[in-house]
Amino acid sequence: MLIRKPHAICPSEITPPDLFRRRREWIKAAGAGAAALGLSAGLPGAAQAQRIRLFGVRKSPLSIDEKQTPYEAVTTYNNFYEFGTDKSDPAEYAGRLKTQPWTVTVEGEIKRPKVYDIEELMKLAPLEERVYRMRCVEGWSMVIPWAGFSLSELIRRVEPTANAKYVEFTTLADPRQMPGLRSSVLDWPYVEGLRLDEAQHPLTLLCMGVYGEMLPNQNGAPVRLVVPWKYGFKSGKSLVRIRFQEKEPQTAWMRSSPSEYGFYSNVNPEVDHPRWSQATERRLGEITKRKTLMFNGYGDQVASLYAGMDLKKFI
Ligand code: MTE
Repeated sequence: MLIRKPHAICPSEITPPDLFRRRREWIKAAGAGAAALGLSAGLPGAAQAQRIRLFGVRKSPLSIDEKQTPYEAVTTYNNFYEFGTDKSDPAEYAGRLKTQPWTVTVEGEIKRPKVYDIEELMKLAPLEERVYRMRCVEGWSMVIPWAGFSLSELIRRVEPTANAKYVEFTTLADPRQMPGLRSSVLDWPYVEGLRLDEAQHPLTLLCMGVYGEMLPNQNGAPVRLVVPWKYGFKSGKSLVRIRFQEKEPQTAWMRSSPSEYGFYSNVNPEVDHPRWSQATERRLGEITKRKTLMFNGYGDQVASLYAGMDLKKFI
């Protein structure tokens, strides 16, 4: 999602040879990065080079049955501005990210605040494969087999108080590991937010894997959010804090560009971005554009969350 380089949005086709070339470069860079950090083969920090398999991931009825975007595209065409604004930057530079040890602080309006170690978090509930449609605000989309469990599993355990109306998600901002933080494209750290009922919706995924393996760093290792009925930027990567609060969170995109990005950010083909249409999208690997679906096609499951709201106003 670019706010300063409009010429770079809505990219045209990505040719498979280009993807494969980028991937080869990336594997080289990631391997060098992991070696420099002294990471051993078993650690998540080396996952992008080692491709660590997740065991016991069960299928989920919440998955869609559509052709999946190839692994190479999912892991080399990314937005993760902490590593740069080009689509190939995360795959090239995220190998430096050390994802072990890693903790996620869960705090705020809850009865059981806790700092979760990533290993403990991963064992909180059985991992499920969730094949979701993902739509970026820039106009491209993918179908991705994520692995994780509903965020509601965590929310239930920490027991929100009656004051908890919203959930704020903060992601890592470490200038020693993230070269993109030198740029002022966003006011770091990357912060996103959901209403509590959105966060509790079964589709909202606390995600640790993709394609049956641990998340590669460029996709948000070791843990990220995936909210499939909203534009991709709501799905914060490399989470370090989850805070329950009474007030609507100020998200990083709202702070940077309030005239372009609202809090809700539901996929709505009827509301154009101020600088481009949202009526269609290009599925990676396809030539012909598709019509974008309301709520990214998840209307049956989520439309009731917004009953009575004007979704042209609450964008
Ligand atoms: N999370 C962080 N921390 N930083 C980012 O720049 N980009 C967002 C989102 N999460 C972003 C982020 C955007 S714009 C998109 S489209 C998705 O991540 C992309 O996720 P993917 O690369 O795994 O497809």
